[in-house]
Amino acid sequence: MSEEREADHGEASERASEADHGEALDDETAVRRDRFSGGPARSFLSSLADDERIFGADLAVDRAHVVMLTEQGIVGAETAGEILAALDDIENAGHGALPDGEDVHEAIESAVIDRVGSDGGKMHTARSRNDEVAACIRYRLRSDVLELIERLVGAREQLLDVAREQTETVMPGYTHLQPAQPTTVAHWLLSYEQALQRDTARLLDAYVRINQNPLGAAAFAGTPFDVDRERTAELLGFEGVAENSMDASATRDFLVETTSAVAALATTLSQLAEDVVVMASKGHVELDNDYASTSSIMPQKKNPDTLELVRGRTGDATAGLNGLLTNLKGQPRAYNRDLQRAGRHAWDAIDSVTDSVEVAAGAVATADWPAERLAAAATEGFATATGVADLLAMAGVPFRTAHEIVAEVATQLAADQHAPDYDTLSAVAEDVLGDPLNDYVDREAVEAALNPAESVAMRDSRGGPAPDAVAEQLSVAEDVVMSHSDRLQAAQTGVADAQDRLQTAVEAYV
Ligand code: ARG
Repeated sequence: MSEEREADHGEASERASEADHGEALDDETAVRRDRFSGGPARSFLSSLADDERIFGADLAVDRAHVVMLTEQGIVGAETAGEILAALDDIENAGHGALPDGEDVHEAIESAVIDRVGSDGGKMHTARSRNDEVAACIRYRLRSDVLELIERLVGAREQLLDVAREQTETVMPGYTHLQPAQPTTVAHWLLSYEQALQRDTARLLDAYVRINQNPLGAAAFAGTPFDVDRERTAELLGFEGVAENSMDASATRDFLVETTSAVAALATTLSQLAEDVVVMASKGHVELDNDYASTSSIMPQKKNPDTLELVRGRTGDATAGLNGLLTNLKGQPRAYNRDLQRAGRHAWDAIDSVTDSVEVAAGAVATADWPAERLAAAATEGFATATGVADLLAMAGVPFRTAHEIVAEVATQLAADQHAPDYDTLSAVAEDVLGDPLNDYVDREAVEAALNPAESVAMRDSRGGPAPDAVAEQLSVAEDVVMSHSDRLQAAQTGVADAQDRLQTAVEAYV
């Protein structure tokens, strides 16, 4: 009520009220500081150090809130100007210069009061640290997620560049880590690009739900002040208002969703890293020195350490998701102090993965794919067996019979230690079918099926490894990465526009 009266009476009364209450200020603040920061549990309670991450976010949230309070006639323009100027000063001094406090919200408020006097305390009208911290986390997470998406889009473009160059580079494909069927480096890479496409889409979807405004929810039960929640949303670039005030202060499901998406992404990257580690150990890929490391004792070693660390960091993301879910699961509505420990799990997860994206893509983009060695490896372990069975089946032999014939050929080859050929197949086929193999397929067709490059070219079903099918996949992937890049840019523009809007609104008072 007193704030409303002050606003009604204008700036003269604002100054008068400042003079009246100036005296009481020091005691009041002192009491407050004692109550919140004293005692043996002082550092246990404090999140001030961790809160460095949301220092900038808190300043933006404070500014938007003060502008809105002023526009709504809840705080006078002169007081607003002083508070906003103090916030600039606090920003310039940096997080390290904040006074002691339970958290960044309280420390910034104290710093404002130190500069402005007791009217600085009007900044905290019609809000609570509960809606404030929720807004700060969303605000900061938003830029972290955009940064991650930007790197992901860049990484996918790099993978697509490599894929475009390697559509004809035959390599062995594995199941159970056993040679299975020949494929190409491009087809293998596109399998990861597709996964990264979904990982990106999940983050873009999560972004929409992160980017909602909890401010105005106050502790959880709203406020009697006539706040304009749309206006703070607009000033902070939030796309909507987190409606129910209890949900708005309490929920961290946007953290769960984001951290899940991050953990899924980490898993994709880890699998890619593992593939490259295995390939490097077989000499199927030559990493650039920038992405390798050597041994301190074994001079001949060139180890894929960067990729092992990509694989290792996945553990941080998975741990983050587990830590977050465990933190949240027992919490009743509406606010509990456990929440102070929730954000860190998400930050750890996102930090551990953000760098991995670039390192994994960089390792792949700069690697050398030894085509001859890969083609030779693609014949190992009778990896063309399925293609031969398919050939027989296409000539009218039931697939199960074809499978039986080729399996017998594989057994004989393994026993005799020699490469698959027409004659071995012919002998076994005649045995099983009772007719010469030539009645079904000729030598030339069998030899084509035994050739890994031709075997790949035959598998031109949609999504398959044949160069034509891969060209289709490449063109779709290029479109999708472009549309993701557009969504990213729209979000970045939304954030930048809001920063300008807030700045302009602030300048009206300072
Ligand atoms: N530092 C606290 C956090 O991160 C801010 C909210 C404190 N709210 C409270 N009701 N104690 O959650």
